[in-house]
Amino acid sequence: MERMRRLRATPELRAMVRENHVRVEELIYPVFVIEGEDISHPVDSMPGICQYSIDRLPEELDRVAAAGIRAILLFGIPQHKDEVGSAAYDENGIIPQAIRAIKQNYPQLVVIADVCLCEYTSHGHCGLVRDGIILNDETLPLLAKTSVSYAKAGADIIAPSDMMDKRVGAIRTALDANGFVDIPIMAYSAKFASAYYGPFRDAAHSAPGFGDRKTYQMDPANGREALREVEEDIAEGADLIIAKPAMAYMDIIREIAGNYNIPIVAYNVSGEYAMVKAAAQKGWIDERRIVMENMVGFKRAGAKMIITYHALDVAGWIKDEENA
Ligand code: PBG
Ligand code: ZN
Repeated sequence: MERMRRLRATPELRAMVRENHVRVEELIYPVFVIEGEDISHPVDSMPGICQYSIDRLPEELDRVAAAGIRAILLFGIPQHKDEVGSAAYDENGIIPQAIRAIKQNYPQLVVIADVCLCEYTSHGHCGLVRDGIILNDETLPLLAKTSVSYAKAGADIIAPSDMMDKRVGAIRTALDANGFVDIPIMAYSAKFASAYYGPFRDAAHSAPGFGDRKTYQMDPANGREALREVEEDIAEGADLIIAKPAMAYMDIIREIAGNYNIPIVAYNVSGEYAMVKAAAQKGWIDERRIVMENMVGFKRAGAKMIITYHALDVAGWIKDEENA
């Protein structure tokens, strides 16, 4: 007679039949770099997360290295914003400077550079704006230029998060033309217009000054459309695909994993992090168990890698389990 409990009887048996694992080498930790000096500024809505000036970054990166985390995702907060986001593609902008400093001190760390204009534009949109309209094709050369300047500074992976059509192709062409044929593109392909990005916009000073992002980010109601986005980005040259947010979109991760043979990255976004942290601070949930359950859920859904603000904690908990 079938009895499912037989293989659940002991920790040893449970470990032997465990189907999915969260591994430190698959974690990606987001890092916010702000222009200025001697800054380590906590983000209110993201307990445990700070903005760092380049001179203070080593504090955070030493923790990253000690935790065994191998990859970070960089976001920049410039001092100067304008209509066309010129600080994004300035070869001496905050991100190229940060990348050069990081590569000098942590040469083996995989530096993934988020590419978007919203942190750099005065209107806070991810593309150029004319008469209240977010322009697609006019934005592409700026994203390409930004990507090339990050690659020149030493970025290992370029991650466009803007959601303009055809940007992966434009970036691939520009990288190739500048001799960066071997720099992979991690495309935010299935990126939804989500309220879960709220805390991030506090952290990155990137909330749109008017309107919303619904004319370029996807409608949360659409799943089939996400597959078309993925298909297009793969055709244009994406090497890795991000699905975002993660928790309310597990079906999207599953669908991409079932349909395409490309590594998928789940982005466990700022609002998801904030909710867990807030409930944990109140003592209403067991933070460690909740976070690890979410992480293994992403793996079970089909994600290969996980971008998460919990990465330092998760890495520590994985080590604890290995030593237990
Ligand atoms: C910028 C960008 C956003 C996030 C990653 N890159 C915010 C947005 O699109 O408004 C969200 C990350 C998070 O919430 O953790 N385009
Ligand atoms: Zn953006």
